[in-house]
Amino acid sequence: MEKLVIRGGAVLSGTVRIGGMKNAALPILYACVLVKGKCVIENVPDVRDVTMSIDILKDMGAKITRTAPTTYEIDCTDVRPGTSRPELVRKLRASYYLLGAELGRFHKAHVSLPGGCNFGGKRPIDQHIKGFEALGAKVTVETDEETESGSVDCDAPDGIIGDDVFFDTVTVGGTMNIMLAAVTGKGNTMIENAAREPHIVDLANFLNTCGAKISGAGTDVIKIRGVKELHGSTYAIIPDMIEAGTYMIAAAATDGCVKIENVIPKHLEAITAKLEDVGVIVEELDDAVIVTGRGQVNATRLKTRPYPGFPTDMHPQMSAMLTRAHGTSIVVEGVYENRFKYAEELKKMGADITVNGHTAVISEVDALHGAEVEAVDLRAGVAMVIAGLIAEGETTITNIVYIERGYDDIVGKLTALGADIKKIDD
Ligand code: UD1
Repeated sequence: MEKLVIRGGAVLSGTVRIGGMKNAALPILYACVLVKGKCVIENVPDVRDVTMSIDILKDMGAKITRTAPTTYEIDCTDVRPGTSRPELVRKLRASYYLLGAELGRFHKAHVSLPGGCNFGGKRPIDQHIKGFEALGAKVTVETDEETESGSVDCDAPDGIIGDDVFFDTVTVGGTMNIMLAAVTGKGNTMIENAAREPHIVDLANFLNTCGAKISGAGTDVIKIRGVKELHGSTYAIIPDMIEAGTYMIAAAATDGCVKIENVIPKHLEAITAKLEDVGVIVEELDDAVIVTGRGQVNATRLKTRPYPGFPTDMHPQMSAMLTRAHGTSIVVEGVYENRFKYAEELKKMGADITVNGHTAVISEVDALHGAEVEAVDLRAGVAMVIAGLIAEGETTITNIVYIERGYDDIVGKLTALGADIKKIDD
């Protein structure tokens, strides 16, 4: 079993380059299913969720060539709906984008129920389904509770017919899935209470370069004028704000000074503001930020919210840093039902965390100490990396496959910044 071994205490310094955004790359890869023709997608991160998605698309008949380390040529002219391998699709939550993409292209979809990170609470897709139904699809969900497997079938024999979709809750995946289903539908679709994340804008921009007519992405009302078909295009994915934020926190937590390159500083504003709040210096350049620690950080209160609020995908990393903050911090999860499974792992390292419902109270301890801990999900896993960097002694992280789902070459990047981290095969 592969593990990460970290000897804490290094002060990070130097420059790290951020890759393309995983959560933009995934829907854009699945969006290629809508296109009869060749798309060239650049700045695709080399992470497991991407390689699994490429395999899923190849299984369905897509012709895919990796022409450079971060560039893929994708031709989905000959893909067949309902042919994705269930065992692969279930490993990956983002494979639910196949529902919208197959529905848009073929007016029917059959996809196994999504897997991916289990944060400890429910992750329903009722809003996606409600949206597909509003666009004229009949949706059937089959679940087998014993085997925890299941599938979703969508059928729109009269085609996708544009309509208003109002989300009861702000959902990133739901917003993207409805965009995918509606772009080649008949008439106009309006998504209200839409998510506003930068990756929503990225998907809209990609689809628009392929001939779609989407406006309003980045606001809570997105309008889609259906077009007959999409054509191929060349498109570069935006930088990953969560990868960038993770290195920002790693720099701050180790009291280091790191330049984080190839970022869009505007996307990082909530993270920057919170770091400044705890006493860290963040300098914004055109496409980089420089994070400089100023000794022990201060405690803070934070609540995660949909963009432009503080991202839920950043709170485990922040909690890891706050274990060593001066005073008592309060971290409230405002997006998911539960996302604190990592607290038990941090406690193994000596952290003082009490979780009550959506709230974690993190009290100052003199030091974290190295321990064997588990990556319980993707961002929880990288929080363990940050904890390992600031702990005394050696930390071993198991189940690192989660971390590799979303972080390209984290060992190489942290080593270049001076961290003592290695991957071992035990
Ligand atoms: C995406 C990201 C994930 C991130 C999340 C929020 C991907 C692959 N994953 O997940 O990393 O943490 O956005 O920024 O891009 N909900 C419902 N019904 C639905 C859909 C969602 O109740 O039909 C709820 C969810 O349970 C959750 C909240 O809405 O409480 C937000 O979920 P959503 O934005 O949909 O997250 P994902 O798109 O799954």
